[in-house]
Amino acid sequence: MKILVTGGAGFIGSAVVRLAVARGHAVVNLDALTYAGCLANVASVAASPLYAFEQADIRDRAAIDAVLARHSPDAIMHLAAESHVDRSIDGPGAFIETNVTGSYNLLEAARDYWARRGRPEGFRLHHISTDEVFGSLGPTGRFTEASPYAPRSPYAASKAASDHLVRAWHETYGLPVVLSNCSNNYGPYHFPEKLIPVVILNALAGKPIPVYGAGANVRDWLYVEDHAEALLAVLSRGTLGQSYNIGGEAEARNIDLVRMLCALLDEMHPEGAPHDRLIRFVADRPGHDARYAIDPARIRADLGWRPSVTLAEGLRRTVAWYLGNEAWWRPLQGRAGVGERLGTRA
Ligand SMILES: NC(=O)c1ccc[n+]([C@@H]2O[C@H](COP(=O)([O-])OP(=O)(O)OC[C@H]3O[C@@H](n4cnc5c(N)ncnc54)[C@H](O)[C@@H]3O)[C@@H](O)[C@H]2O)c1
Repeated sequence: MKILVTGGAGFIGSAVVRLAVARGHAVVNLDALTYAGCLANVASVAASPLYAFEQADIRDRAAIDAVLARHSPDAIMHLAAESHVDRSIDGPGAFIETNVTGSYNLLEAARDYWARRGRPEGFRLHHISTDEVFGSLGPTGRFTEASPYAPRSPYAASKAASDHLVRAWHETYGLPVVLSNCSNNYGPYHFPEKLIPVVILNALAGKPIPVYGAGANVRDWLYVEDHAEALLAVLSRGTLGQSYNIGGEAEARNIDLVRMLCALLDEMHPEGAPHDRLIRFVADRPGHDARYAIDPARIRADLGWRPSVTLAEGLRRTVAWYLGNEAWWRPLQGRAGVGERLGTRA
């Protein structure tokens, strides 16, 4: 199968690209290379005859049309997005332009492409979304595919909007789509502005490790390579029009996650131990969602997918990866906004 992956130079998109090529799929990586995009993430497959890269922006409909015409993919996996909640608080406009208008452009381009080709049976567009569209949970319960949409940040609202557009294009125009909503990912190539890399890299530098509020917010963590496996399963075997919740069944309070990382660093990089002395509680994120948790019963029952990596093992692999890949993360720390406290302009 030839798959057009949007956002394939990002964190999750690049894991999908690497896995899809390893599985023998041809992959066209469409990415604008924003501040979050990095071609080093796909360097391991760049020389493969199965891989092609197209620098294009999904805000530009003509650019998407040209890529579709040039490569004639059998399927589209849509991951390109503005993805950082803190940046969405300071500057929501880019999130509306890429996540909403860009997704609309992609849907229209895909609809046109699919119709021109005589509506081929096997074609599908897979929209990759987040559990943040469901809002914030109390201490109990988990999100199912039937949970009401209740986004609370500009990022989550923009992703919710794109989910609605994708469903509408399926119902109204018959566009063959599948959707998935995933919990927080972590692992190799995670951009150094997100919580887990911030903790690891600040600890290595002997800098304060910021924890928002009291660190009591709960996230449900999934190793990124397990997510990529789930996404290929949804793309190839998911039921059209259906959405799938994907999660690691690995809930942790932020403060406990940070302490787990510090303990791993004490063991794997004892210089500077104990690293938890660097923890500093800082002003909370405005509108900070208290808890996310995914009920992955549907994807487990229908597609036989389950996470293969525990949180303890995944964090160990992640710390080892950052310790061994300074040449990847060091240059990214110089990109705009990285290392600054963002999301306080509410
Ligand atoms: N990171 C998570 O924990 C998580 C969880 C669930 C769902 N998601 C979703 O998965 C997708 C990928 O997330 P990620 O963490 O890999 O994001 P990321 O920020 O690491 O990567 C996004 C990629 O999209 C590209 N991009 C941004 N705007 C673009 C545009 N206008 N045109 C073309 N390319 C553009 C960037 O250059 C980058 O390579 C997003 O849709 C996100 O909402 C993320």
